[in-house]
Amino acid sequence: MPFSETIAVNVVLGITGGIAAYKTPDLVRRLREGGAEVQIVMTASAEEFVTGTALQAVSGRPIRSNLWDKEAEAAMSHIELARWADVVLIAPATAEVMARIVSGAAPDLLTTICLATEAPIALAPAMNHVMWNNPATQANRELLEERGIQILGPGVGSQACGETGAGRMLDPETIAAAVLSLTGSRGEGLLKGLKLVVTAGPTHEPIDPVRYITNHSSGKMGFAMASAAAAQGANVILVSGPVRLADPPGVEVVQVESAKEMYAATHKFIGDADIFIATAAVADYRPVTVADQKIKKKSATMNLELERCPDILASVTSLESPPFTVGFAAETERVIEYARGKLQKKNLDMIVANRVGSDCGFNRDDNAATVLWNNGEKTFPIASKACLARDLIELTAERFYAVRGSGTQPRLTIISNSD
Ligand code: PMT
Repeated sequence: MPFSETIAVNVVLGITGGIAAYKTPDLVRRLREGGAEVQIVMTASAEEFVTGTALQAVSGRPIRSNLWDKEAEAAMSHIELARWADVVLIAPATAEVMARIVSGAAPDLLTTICLATEAPIALAPAMNHVMWNNPATQANRELLEERGIQILGPGVGSQACGETGAGRMLDPETIAAAVLSLTGSRGEGLLKGLKLVVTAGPTHEPIDPVRYITNHSSGKMGFAMASAAAAQGANVILVSGPVRLADPPGVEVVQVESAKEMYAATHKFIGDADIFIATAAVADYRPVTVADQKIKKKSATMNLELERCPDILASVTSLESPPFTVGFAAETERVIEYARGKLQKKNLDMIVANRVGSDCGFNRDDNAATVLWNNGEKTFPIASKACLARDLIELTAERFYAVRGSGTQPRLTIISNSD
């Protein structure tokens, strides 16, 4: 399997007139960190909410807004822009732009590009919750989805108008990860036809009905790994502990709470998996007994008896025919030494060693890592988790084929209904 340099992804980012437009400089930054070239196209009303000057600075390209701008059209016409795009993203997308795209109306540059492009289109709606729930908007959403347009969100929460409900634009990090994974079909397809199981996030080990033991994992690294694998054409099952992240598009997410549930869910799907990536921060210990009722304060101190949780990673490599297995090692000291110990002890194909602490690893948007395998290692400097995950997935594919041979057949059995 050939391994080429990463191809830059071209994103046309359409910005329409909603208050969430103020988040778009951050969105542009995250797309660029993920390896995208971003060409911004603003509608006239978007200019009421965010300045072209800021967006030009962060995107590094002149802003386009006018279909009738002769100079800009001479440099790259709207048809060339529509062809240049690997993906067209509209964020925020107002109810009006959704209606225009449904109807095929193209009175401005952005809607003209939507009509003229063959690239995937994604919309991140942002509007008042009553507007979002209006039957007209919902009918438009359904039609757009039927036509293969990705609708990202919206999220639920407090809104700029002071009300609460569905209509908040998803956060820039989630939108960027989703859009970059949409462009995977244009990537090298390094994992095409393979089945991956990825674990992510923390686990909650109950003490009583109101308390549990957990850690600082946000799930961001594991979700980024799952997105990056899906972008390389893999069939991905993401077994996730309790996190506050949107499901990555194209990934089947299985939600669990405890280490015991994560163990069961992993083993439900691992049988025909080609690759297992254990990014989750699974609890090592859990309370021996879980109280039925809330434990009351009685004495000044209290002892909690703990027992070992099942080691999911070690149980997978102990299978008779294990998948190619990638562990993570979260360490606060002697990172490489401890990680190499885990590589050998748990009989892994690869381990991703990362330092964790109050200022690195957990619950952040960036990370750095050193990957170890039997006869080698590779260090990745600090980068966004989306970028790092893309590099880690490329290395995983490279090592998978090196170990299993380039003629490896996927273990996934495809059952055909036809005779
Ligand atoms: O979620 P984020 O906020 O983005 O943070 C990312 C991360 C720091 C959690 C991630 O990059 C990471 O390092 N994940 C592994 C965390 C961990 O539990 O490391 P460990 O060294 O304790 O465990 C070693 C390996 O064994 C891990 O692959 C872990 O998933 C696995 N394990 C551990 C215990 C257990 N009972 N079962 C397991 O499968």
